[in-house]
Amino acid sequence: MKRLELGIVPERPGVLPEKMLAWVIRPEREGEPRKAMQVEDMPVPEVGPNEVLVLTMAAGVNFNGVWAARGLPVSTIKMHPSEPFHIAGSDSSGIVWKVGSEVRRWKPGDHVITHCNQSCGHCAECNGLDPMACEQQKIWGYESNWGSFAQFHKVQAQQLLAKPTHLSWEESASYGLTFFTAYRMLIDQADLKAGDNVLIWGAAGGLGIFAIQICRLVGANPIAVIGSSDKEPLVRELGASMIIDRKKFDFSKGTEASRAFGSEIRKLTGGKDPDIVFEHVGKETFPTSVLVAKRFGKIVICGATSGYELNFDVRYLWMRQKQIIGSHFANAYQAERANRLIIEKKIRPVLDQVFPFERTAEAHQLMHENKHKGKLGIRVQAPQATVG
Ligand SMILES: NC(=O)c1ccc[n+]([C@@H]2O[C@H](COP(=O)([O-])OP(=O)(O)OC[C@H]3O[C@@H](n4cnc5c(N)ncnc54)[C@H](OP(=O)(O)O)[C@@H]3O)[C@@H](O)[C@H]2O)c1
Repeated sequence: MKRLELGIVPERPGVLPEKMLAWVIRPEREGEPRKAMQVEDMPVPEVGPNEVLVLTMAAGVNFNGVWAARGLPVSTIKMHPSEPFHIAGSDSSGIVWKVGSEVRRWKPGDHVITHCNQSCGHCAECNGLDPMACEQQKIWGYESNWGSFAQFHKVQAQQLLAKPTHLSWEESASYGLTFFTAYRMLIDQADLKAGDNVLIWGAAGGLGIFAIQICRLVGANPIAVIGSSDKEPLVRELGASMIIDRKKFDFSKGTEASRAFGSEIRKLTGGKDPDIVFEHVGKETFPTSVLVAKRFGKIVICGATSGYELNFDVRYLWMRQKQIIGSHFANAYQAERANRLIIEKKIRPVLDQVFPFERTAEAHQLMHENKHKGKLGIRVQAPQATVG
């Protein structure tokens, strides 16, 4: 068989075609997602001893696919020079299709989702500290190749997690990267406690929808920041009652606008400053985040959508003894614990739109233009009827 038709699951797991369809980024066309990502016939990848080949039922769109398409701030293709093309995609759901000779925990036919952290598995950091501290740590589908925007994807066996049985394939592929990141940021890095006031930038975005739910689950108070009023019903439904429209503040005016924003927060909280600021916007919000955090408060940051060179008044940091904490994705243990909250229905994915495989580049373009809310899904081999 040359290749599988889209939307079809062969009856017997393990049947391998010669080729697969994949959305491929190449160095000569890096730029806007709608041009950079193109469908090509690619070979089905070989698996090593500790790797697994998964038939992609659905994939999830993330901001890292936008960075990969644009080749900014660095070209992802240069991160794997022996394979000078990039198949993006760091979230998936699927069926285990083939396992490497050392894989014991999974077998062909298992229904799985993936977490996107890859590490060597052999060093002291992997075995005693945290795989996120491994010198070879990589985000699969961003820093490494063979991501989920293809009919098959290749992962390390430790990346697999059980698919929640109550969710569709598309919903199951929609939450891993952002939920597990938000979980590590708040639970492990910022040590979130009941009663904390938490300022959440981009509250209706991929990270924000989970930050709100984690706060509610723990008994903390989310303060949701949104950039347009049509996002208000969603953040309210997820459990935020304190909501701020950031467009009412002209942050280009500097400290004056940040102070007015801080006053708005205090109006909502009854005079309290945020114990934790949940940051991922970077350049345009970071000075405000440092200013408005409570004395001894924490700013936990995992990204920089608006720019990564940050300029802020450090006096507000040291004199009020605040902490800036960097955070990056999650390890397998954190991913497993967070996934349990989905299986137990304590946290839910927010899948706003599902696109057919053929419209993968378009979905990335929407995210690039901030014209989405919640998460965007891509249907690959899942038959249409499974959309939840
Ligand atoms: N290190 C990691 O492991 C990790 C993991 C996940 C994501 N990230 C990074 O985190 C960032 C956010 O990811 P995401 O999935 O949540 O993206 P997303 O779905 O696009 O959501 C980001 C939200 O940020 C808000 N925003 C955009 N520009 C803004 C600005 N200038 N000022 C204030 N708010 C702004 C938007 O909300 P409003 O317009 O409604 O305010 C948007 O919904 C990305 O840069 C991503 O690469 C890093």
